[in-house]
Amino acid sequence: MKIGILTSGGDCPGLNAVIRGVVLKGTTNYNIEFVGIRDGWRGVVDGDFFPLTRHEVKGLSKVGGTILGTSRTNPYEGPRGGADNIKATLYGHHIDGIIAIGGEGTLAAANRLWNDGINVMGVPKTIDNDLRATDYSFGFDTAVNIATDAMDRLRTTGDSHQRCMVAEVMGRHVGWIALHSGIAAGAHVICIPEVPMSIDEIVDQVQKAHDRGRAPLVVVSEGFTLTGMDEAYSDKGLDAFNRPRLGGIGEVLAPEIERRTGIETRATVLGHIQRGGSPSGFDRVLATRLGLHAADAVAEEAWGQMVSMKGTDIVRVPFAEALGELNTVPIYRYEEAAALFG
Ligand code: F6P
Repeated sequence: MKIGILTSGGDCPGLNAVIRGVVLKGTTNYNIEFVGIRDGWRGVVDGDFFPLTRHEVKGLSKVGGTILGTSRTNPYEGPRGGADNIKATLYGHHIDGIIAIGGEGTLAAANRLWNDGINVMGVPKTIDNDLRATDYSFGFDTAVNIATDAMDRLRTTGDSHQRCMVAEVMGRHVGWIALHSGIAAGAHVICIPEVPMSIDEIVDQVQKAHDRGRAPLVVVSEGFTLTGMDEAYSDKGLDAFNRPRLGGIGEVLAPEIERRTGIETRATVLGHIQRGGSPSGFDRVLATRLGLHAADAVAEEAWGQMVSMKGTDIVRVPFAEALGELNTVPIYRYEEAAALFG
């Protein structure tokens, strides 16, 4: 049996640990031959493969990024795309199936290819932790640790200057990174996409923290949307608040907090630092276990499914169940943290 492995979508600490887990177990236990597919679906479409042996995956569990490269290519687009072309390419290289490691978009493409008769199985990946049908995705814990460390650092400089510090973290559609890092770092305000807030509510919490003698710390997800800003900002244009682009909401909030409270305020956008570098111990273990179970799944030809974390176990979930609504932060999880800000 010959299996191709690809990583697709935004990279994420732990991708290499999955690849290592798959290759070590697949070669040793099942005598599977592996090829690496370069740059996600782009490599499938172009037939860009290379041998992947135990040698290539040596020592990889601690290495960030992905040795396979990644892209956001859609396998159904372009002159060489589409299920029939891909089938022919895989057949020409004697490849029996694909392990696709990726997020919502990658798994949606994997599901479509599977429905079109191509052997594909999935491994969920997202630092945002926004995939349903898996309790945690690797990369999330690392991102939370990086964001927490950054906010601990913002606290000491904020305290020294009696400033309000605003930290913008990743989270395109969901606020898991902001919620967890905000709780861990003791933020005074947590702004997430699931809970729109007005600038008045944010300023009120900042002011209360300041009145208690604290240097206020605000954490905001990049996908957060302010409510009630239309009139206040009609003179500046509304684009910043309607959020046609990602990133920058922290820099929108900071001057407004300063203007309304008189507290000197600085914004820091953590950006891709949250996705770089070595995975945490938790993510190395989770990613490795997913890789080991993915090797079992391909050996059993359990296509059309993804491996997933349920509680502390790794299980298999059909693609159809894994796709659909995102794993958003439930309101009760946000509200249980509210007592911390009082
Ligand atoms: O989905 C993961 C993620 O890191 C989001 O948090 C972020 O909005 C996005 O990817 C950034 O994508 P890119 O690396 O293409 O800028």
